[in-house]
Amino acid sequence: MLSRFLAAFSLAAASLATSLPADLPPFNPSLFKDLNVTRGLVYHYYASPAETGKPTIVFLHGFPSTSYDWRHQVSFFQDKGYGLIIPDMLGYGGTAKPLEPEAYASSLISKDIIDILDAEGLQQSILVGHDWGSKVVGRLANYFPEYFSSYAFLAVGYFSPNSFEVPYPEKNNASRAVLGYENIGYWDFFSSEGADQIILNNLDSFFDIFFPQETVLTIKDFAPLGAIGDFVSNGRRTTPGDFVAPEERAIQMEFLRQGGFAAPLNWYKIVTTSIERDDDQGIPSENAILKKPVFFGAALRDYVGVAAILITSILRNSNDTLTIHQYDSGHWVQLEVKDKVNNDLLNWIEGLEVDV
Ligand SMILES: *[C@@H]1O[C@H](CO)[C@@H](O)[C@H](O)[C@H]1NC(C)=O
Ligand SMILES: *[C@@H]1O[C@H](CO)[C@@H](O)[C@H](O)[C@H]1NC(C)=O
Ligand SMILES: *[C@@H]1O[C@H](CO)[C@@H](O)[C@H](O)[C@H]1NC(C)=O
Repeated sequence: MLSRFLAAFSLAAASLATSLPADLPPFNPSLFKDLNVTRGLVYHYYASPAETGKPTIVFLHGFPSTSYDWRHQVSFFQDKGYGLIIPDMLGYGGTAKPLEPEAYASSLISKDIIDILDAEGLQQSILVGHDWGSKVVGRLANYFPEYFSSYAFLAVGYFSPNSFEVPYPEKNNASRAVLGYENIGYWDFFSSEGADQIILNNLDSFFDIFFPQETVLTIKDFAPLGAIGDFVSNGRRTTPGDFVAPEERAIQMEFLRQGGFAAPLNWYKIVTTSIERDDDQGIPSENAILKKPVFFGAALRDYVGVAAILITSILRNSNDTLTIHQYDSGHWVQLEVKDKVNNDLLNWIEGLEVDV
């Protein structure tokens, strides 16, 4: 039934009038909500209530995604009675897509998430982030620690408040010296004028290299300065990872085709300019160290978020119990090794003492 529907959907996607299916299993369509947050931007989010005595888990996705990134976690944790809050982050899906980079400063996005939690009456939630979502988990811990019981970071770890003190171009020189390639060289292309249209015009190429089967290609064709711009501009292709089914890829692509990339790329523009660095000056210094239980799921074949470096950093920056799992996986651990990640998160959550 689903595949028949999706076949019809793919045909529709090829025509001019494209649209997303109304129903995206395992999400329950009646549990999506919209909230106009304090600063006047509308957030679209999934809100599945907790069973009595169970805490709520807040899942924050990264680039280039929507709440749909967490489909395997929704089915797993919803069935076990956990509450779920899963927003489309700023710039994506059903959420507002401001075009000015300043709107993406971490302090503002953190407050947006707090507005959602206030609207839902939630305290002592468990935060789980992936990719840029991990940065927001860290900033929520910095600005609003009283709202959370614990913090989980997947693939990308904790960005401490001084993470962006070194200007972006110097970071590339430093990573080249340590790793032999610029692991965040691709931020340069993502911050450049016109990158959004180049990506939209070569969406298959972009998806191939963002979700590759051979994750080691990241070192050559994705991360270094100039690499992804060259790959995508030339419409090059590679085997997509088998952890994203073709029908799931069609759904993800349609979200991005409709929303475009001008807004999402602002997540990069704020870190290649001084916006994030200036914004981080407002973090209370006493909140720089994480003082709640932390989970880090490191991806051993992520050549952007390099596990050894991120583990060193999180060891230095946490001052409560620290649980580290290392996965034989590329960047997309919640998709690639979903069962391991779900079970490890569940064991960790069950071991936390949470008053709800
Ligand atoms: C959200 O609130 C702002 C004012 O805070 C208002 O200008 C805007 O129209 C609202 N958006 C929607 C979609 O209601
Ligand atoms: C990076 O390294 C290159 C080559 O060694 C040098 O020319 C350039 O000035 C460096 N840039 C920064 C920002 O340190
Ligand atoms: C870590 O916590 C201990 C007590 O729980 C405290 O004495 C110590 O100063 C803390 N360290 C940091 C870096 O916050």
